[in-house]
Amino acid sequence: MIVAIYPGSFDPITNGHLDVIDRARKIFDRVIVAVLRNPHKVPLFTVEERKLMIEEAVRDLPNVEVEVFDGLLVHFARSKGCRIILRGLRAISDYEYETQIALINRKMAPEIETVFLPTSTEYSYLNSTVVKEIARFGGCVRGLVPPGVERRLREKFGLPMVKGR
Ligand code: PNS
Repeated sequence: MIVAIYPGSFDPITNGHLDVIDRARKIFDRVIVAVLRNPHKVPLFTVEERKLMIEEAVRDLPNVEVEVFDGLLVHFARSKGCRIILRGLRAISDYEYETQIALINRKMAPEIETVFLPTSTEYSYLNSTVVKEIARFGGCVRGLVPPGVERRLREKFGLPMVKGR
């Protein structure tokens, strides 16, 4: 049974994250999406909201589950008996930061490997920050995030729901 942990802030989850999750669940027996409760950042969505939005989006994916963690990722991975950390790579610019984190994690927990999965090209420009920026100023995020996230972004920013684009 190979379990992979897919960690992140997911503030909020995007279709780019979902693309990685959907491909990973075909490679690994179980994928645990691990939502970071980060005391150093003020997120747009609470960790409970972020978890709920991911749960809605992965409802039909039987080998995917969602958990919240705090502290070190490698401690959480160990507590789950998991030896694989999964990260999506959008562009070469992600590589430097991701490699640094992977090496730090390996230093702390040599038995845990980090696996990078390239994001599909159609999502290579996408991240949670741009999604929030678009929504904040009334732009349309349809196709960039799951429907439940689109709805909550509109609620957060007090925008009406739109039909079509
Ligand atoms: O979605 P993000 O914000 O790029 O995810 C970053 C995340 C959650 C993977 C990373 O910040 C993390 O693992 N944080 C937990 C603390 C930790 O273990 N840090 C690694 C050593 S610096």
